[in-house]
Amino acid sequence: MVLLPGDGIGPEVLGEAVAVLRAVGAAAGHEFVFVDCLIGGAAIDQTGSPLPEDTLLACRAADAVLLGAVGGPAWDGAATRPERGLLDLRRELELFANLRPIRVYPELAEISPLRPEAVSGVDILFVRELTGGLYFGDSGTTETEAYQVMKYSVDEVSRIVRLAADLARTRRKKLTSVDKANVLEPSRLWRTEAARVMAADYVDVEYEVVLVDAMAMYLVSRPADFDVIVTSNLFGDILTDEASMLTGSLGMVPSASIGATGPGLYEPVHGSAPDIAGLDVANPVGAILSAAMALRHSLGFEEEAAAVEGAVADVLAKGMRTADIAGGAAAVGTVEFGAAVAAAIGNA
Ligand code: IPM
Ligand code: MN
Repeated sequence: MVLLPGDGIGPEVLGEAVAVLRAVGAAAGHEFVFVDCLIGGAAIDQTGSPLPEDTLLACRAADAVLLGAVGGPAWDGAATRPERGLLDLRRELELFANLRPIRVYPELAEISPLRPEAVSGVDILFVRELTGGLYFGDSGTTETEAYQVMKYSVDEVSRIVRLAADLARTRRKKLTSVDKANVLEPSRLWRTEAARVMAADYVDVEYEVVLVDAMAMYLVSRPADFDVIVTSNLFGDILTDEASMLTGSLGMVPSASIGATGPGLYEPVHGSAPDIAGLDVANPVGAILSAAMALRHSLGFEEEAAAVEGAVADVLAKGMRTADIAGGAAAVGTVEFGAAVAAAIGNA
């Protein structure tokens, strides 16, 4: 596995994910080989590039890639931004699908900014398109104007909708496609193609379309009604940060970026949080659960993935909390929380 610690709290949370993977390896008799590489601002500082060639080669040769976070104000004036490294890696590895599960742990329902009964039972899987749309459209800047093109092809839409519908079949068999078809041309193409795919091959999956502005509201008013939500790159970026708060903290949410073949990329949904970097207060759960997704999706270790998820649930059930989910009560640091999860695996 390639490790890309990156910037800010990235190295801290990734360190705990690795500690948990070592514990799983010891318990299950696997030896994971980890290779550390540079990405983001750390890579700019050392090599001048946010995605050095060595890093890309190592990622291509790996079974899975685990990433901490990239970015920070230190590189605001840089010729290339740290984020470019992550975007290029997603594109180079053709990781067109980004899975972001939003699950509310019962013991954290009180921490959510919504009433506990509003978030109880929430279990959403976002499937965000990751290599198209506005993020990768032609762009340009003059002294007085800037533009960026939003473009989707029917092939890009059908492959992401199929993947989302396949995942819905393994869950509650409901798929919601989110677009802005009342205004945007690419959304109209998205809506037409998604409807065609669903009618042709997925009549057993309950299907609905929702406009993105309405979806932003429904995530707050009735989040438990949704199962799998498929949407474009930018809408998925925005809606998943919003939805993360249902769990109590952005720090809780993992993600898996996968393509048709090759290694997957696993990273917490949160960013580099430079304001708390190096203070041992970051929540490592998003990173640890991302490692579980790597075990499941890239290595085929379903039991081991479930063991990691179970260990996180155990530690939360025992009342251990990092500051972001402590609700003002006593909190432990990043390392202590990670060690408790690793120990819970040994005990399982
Ligand atoms: C995310 C992040 C990235 C994105 C940034 C860091 C490029 O916000 O993974 O959600 O916008 O996709
Ligand atoms: Mn984001």
